[in-house]
Amino acid sequence: MKVLVAGGSGYLGQYLVEALSREHQVGFTYNTGGKVVESMGGSKYKVDFCTGEGLEDMVSDFGEPQVVVNCAAISQPMVCEEERERSRSVNVPTTLVNDCLLSRCEGRPFLIHLSTDHVYDGSRSFYTEADEPGPVNAYGETKKEAEDFIVSRYPNHAIFRSSIIYGRGKEVGRNLFLQWMDEALGAGEKVDFFGNEFRSPVYVMDIVKLVRIIIARIENGVTAPARVANIYNLGGPERLSRADMAKALCTHRGYGIDSVLEADRPGHVKSPLDASMDVHLLRQTFGLHPTSFKDALSEIF
Ligand SMILES: NC(=O)c1ccc[n+]([C@@H]2O[C@H](COP(=O)([O-])OP(=O)(O)OC[C@H]3O[C@@H](n4cnc5c(N)ncnc54)[C@H](OP(=O)(O)O)[C@@H]3O)[C@@H](O)[C@H]2O)c1
Repeated sequence: MKVLVAGGSGYLGQYLVEALSREHQVGFTYNTGGKVVESMGGSKYKVDFCTGEGLEDMVSDFGEPQVVVNCAAISQPMVCEEERERSRSVNVPTTLVNDCLLSRCEGRPFLIHLSTDHVYDGSRSFYTEADEPGPVNAYGETKKEAEDFIVSRYPNHAIFRSSIIYGRGKEVGRNLFLQWMDEALGAGEKVDFFGNEFRSPVYVMDIVKLVRIIIARIENGVTAPARVANIYNLGGPERLSRADMAKALCTHRGYGIDSVLEADRPGHVKSPLDASMDVHLLRQTFGLHPTSFKDALSEIF
């Protein structure tokens, strides 16, 4: 299969390019890129989804993919608050869908799009896909707009509302939560972790598994069941606070648990407080059984 990973230079993208390149013809896009891109396999294309620069060259060279996994995004909520328009132009995939999939790909490749748990307002626990989204920050707003855009413009899709993605470290231009936590706690520092902000963190290898399941189904002529909007929660099996995650890490690594101090997420920070998700639909539809945080830590460290 010909698979395009948009945003292949990002955290999830690097994992996907690495895994999928073993089985498929993979192309990926990067924007600022950096050293890591040089060492990555697959066909690489510098594309700016804000301006569309590089898109034409990519389509001419790589040709028409059968599957596109869209990981390209401005994924840091703070950056989205500060640079709303730029974030919107990347997070809502108008360039990818209009100028590539709809106008240049007659076979209508299957689009796997990464959304976020930040589309939920965070006022309750274990959101299901049927719950009404209500983003409380710019990141969530742009990602919700992206979902609406895809649903209205491009029927051949599956959208995944991902929780925090964690796994082994990769070179990306920002701190990765698990690695930062490990470094600080391993050094014996006492660190404040939010005890009142809940997520369903998802192990990156589960997402790789999920994408492989979908691609295998497409190879066999079966895609996701036809629903008006193919939207799925993508999370781990648990509802955990940052303090819970830090304590689990301490237990696994043998660090002193008294280094974990619990604090409340300050009220002025725009972030859903409890964006934990129900992942029954994911299990049921794709047969994916997400790894527990404890089991994932045993694989990672
Ligand atoms: N990581 C998480 O915990 C998490 C949680 C929930 C949802 N998600 C979603 O999952 C997806 C993947 O996340 P991630 O953590 O892998 O993101 P990431 O590490 O921030 O990577 C983002 C990717 O987007 C590319 N990009 C940024 N601006 C671009 C532009 N103007 N034109 C073209 N490409 C551009 C980046 O390219 P360069 O780096 O080369 O500039 C990079 O490849 C995103 O949609 C994110 O919103 C992530």
